[in-house]
Amino acid sequence: CGIVGFTGSNNYQSAPVLLKGLQKLEYRGYDSAGLYVSDETTGTDQLVKENGRVSELAKLVASKDVKGSAGIAHTRWATHGVPSVDNAHPHKSGDGRFYLVHNGVIENYAELKQTYLAGVHFESDTDTEVAVQMIDKFVKEGATTIDALKKLIGLMDENSAYGFLLMDREEPERMYVAKQKSPLLIGIGADFNVVTSDAVAMLDQTHDFIELHDGEIAIVDPDNVQLFDQTGASVTRDIFHLDIDATETDKGTYPFYMLKEIDEQPIVLRHLISRYLPQDNEPQIGEGIINDIKAADRLYIIAAGTSYNAGLVGARMFERWAGIPTEVHVSSEFAHDQPLLSENPFFIFLSQSGETADSREVLQNINALGFKSLTLTNVEKSTLWREATYALPLIAGPEIAVASTKAYVAQITLQAILAYALADRKQLNLDLEQELSKIAVTIQGIIDDKETLQKVADDMLVPSQNAFYIGRGVDAAVVLEDALKLKEVSYVQTEGFAAGELKHGTLALIEQDTPVIAIMTQPSLAGLVRGNLAETQARGSKTFTIVTKAIAKPEDDLVLPDINELLTPLVSVVPAQLLAYYTSLGRGLDVDHPRNLAKSVTVQ
Ligand code: G6P
Repeated sequence: CGIVGFTGSNNYQSAPVLLKGLQKLEYRGYDSAGLYVSDETTGTDQLVKENGRVSELAKLVASKDVKGSAGIAHTRWATHGVPSVDNAHPHKSGDGRFYLVHNGVIENYAELKQTYLAGVHFESDTDTEVAVQMIDKFVKEGATTIDALKKLIGLMDENSAYGFLLMDREEPERMYVAKQKSPLLIGIGADFNVVTSDAVAMLDQTHDFIELHDGEIAIVDPDNVQLFDQTGASVTRDIFHLDIDATETDKGTYPFYMLKEIDEQPIVLRHLISRYLPQDNEPQIGEGIINDIKAADRLYIIAAGTSYNAGLVGARMFERWAGIPTEVHVSSEFAHDQPLLSENPFFIFLSQSGETADSREVLQNINALGFKSLTLTNVEKSTLWREATYALPLIAGPEIAVASTKAYVAQITLQAILAYALADRKQLNLDLEQELSKIAVTIQGIIDDKETLQKVADDMLVPSQNAFYIGRGVDAAVVLEDALKLKEVSYVQTEGFAAGELKHGTLALIEQDTPVIAIMTQPSLAGLVRGNLAETQARGSKTFTIVTKAIAKPEDDLVLPDINELLTPLVSVVPAQLLAYYTSLGRGLDVDHPRNLAKSVTVQ
C-alpha cells in the first residue's frame, strides 16, 4: 500500500498533490484508493474513496468540489478484507471526527475489536477501522489525540506493523504520524510539509526529507514538524536531501514502464561500471565491506522474488570467483525457519525497494545476533539500507513497473563487481569492465531487435495456458527469473526448471504445442539440455532456444555472443523480459500493474 499526506498554508489545494502522489505510488497497490481533505477556512471536509485504480478516484474527485489545504490519501493492496469502497482507506471513526490511512497489519485487531469496541458499528472488515475507532473511543474518554494514538500503539501486538497517518477534524491542518516496521518519511517544504511512504511520490513537492524511526510519532503542521520517541521525549533529526530527478519517475513516450525499464538496462550497466569500476578494473567497494566479508567463513544472501533470483546468480560468483561458500535464502522462510549458521557468517541483503518486510525481519534477527551485513538496494536511505552494517546503491534509477527488470540486472552486476573485488584477480583472468561493456552493447542489440521477440510471444505464448523455461547450471538460475517474469505479467502459468529434473515428474505436463524455451549458455552443459529439450519435443512441445555463439547450431532461434559464463544471465534474461512484456501486451493486459501484486511488499 502507499500513503501520502500534505498540509500547506491556505493558498494550497491538497487534493491534486495527493492524487499525483498516489499515481506515483500506485505500484505499491492498486486495489482501491481514497483521500480525505479538510479545509480550515471553511471548516468543511470530504472523504472520497473508490474501488480500483487511482484514475478512478481522480474522476470521482473531479466530479466533486474537493477543497482544502490539508489531506491524507492511500492506495491499497488488500490484506484484510476484499478490495471494495468500504474497505478502501481513509477509514473514519463513527461520528466522522478521525480519519486514518494505514500501511501494515495489526495482528491482534480482532481481539482489540472485541475488548474495546463491543457494540460499535463497523463499515469495513479492516484492521485499520478498528484502529481509528479505538482512537475515537479513547478521545471520547478524555485522552488528547496524541495520547489516544499512543495508547492504541501500546495495545497492539508486538508483531504488528503500521505506518499511520491520522487527521482530526478539529485540527484541520494537522497530521499525526506513527510508524513501526512500515516505511514513512516526512518531506519538508517552504510553507508546507508532506508525509509519504516513498520519497518518489513527493519529489514534485520536495527533495528534503526526515526519516521516521520505528516507534516514533510525529506531529506535522504546515510550518512545523515535531518528532517524539517512544518515551514521548522530543527528538531532533537532520534533514537529508534526496538527489533524484523527478522526471526519472515519468514514463516519457513509453506505453509502459516495463518497456522503459528494459530499455534502460544498458545505461544502468554503464552507470554501475563508472561508479564501481572507474578505472583499471579496480573495484571501488569500500575497505570495511571487503575486510568484513574476507573475515567471514560463509555468505548468506537473503532476498525475495526477483532479488532472490538475482542472488542465485550472485552466489555462483562468490563461490567460483572468490572461493567463499555462499547460500541463498528466501527471506520469508529464513525469518521463521532459520538454518544452522556457520561460525562467522556475513549477510548480503538484496532488495530493489529496501523495504520488503520479510527481508527486514531477517535483518533485525541477525542484527540482534550481532552479525554484520551489507544491503544492495536501489533506494538509498530505505529501511534495509539504514539498518544494515553497510549499504551500496544499485543506481538503477527508480523502478516503477511491478515486474522487476533493471533491478535484476543491476543486482547481478553489483554482485559481480563485489565478487570480483573479493577474488584473486590475477588468477581469475577476467577483464570485468570490458566484459560488462560488451554486455551493455549486447543487451542493446537484443532490445533493438525486439519486434522479433514480439512475434515469438504472439505465436507461441499469447495463446498458451502454460509454458516452461529450462536450463542447467547458471541457466537453471536464470530460468527461474524468466518464468517469474512471464507468469506475473501475462498470467500464463510458467515454470522455470533445471532441465534434468523435468523428466522426474513435470514432463507429464507437456502436451501438443506446450511452449518450452531453453536457455543454453554453458558449453559443457548444452548437449545435456538439448537432450532434455528433445524429450519435450518428442511429446509435442513447441520450442524456442536462446544460446551463446559457441554452442549455436543452425536450428537455434536466438544466438547471443560468447561472454563470461557466470555473466550470461545479464544477457539471456533480456529476451525473456521482452517475451513477458509482449505476451502481456498481446493478451491485452495492463503490463505495469499485474493483478493481485504490489511492487513493494511491506507486510510479512
Ligand atoms: C515484490 C515485487 C517483486 C520483487 C519482490 C522483492 O514481490 O513485485 O518484483 O522482486 O517484491 O522486492 P525487493 O524490493 O525486496 O527486491
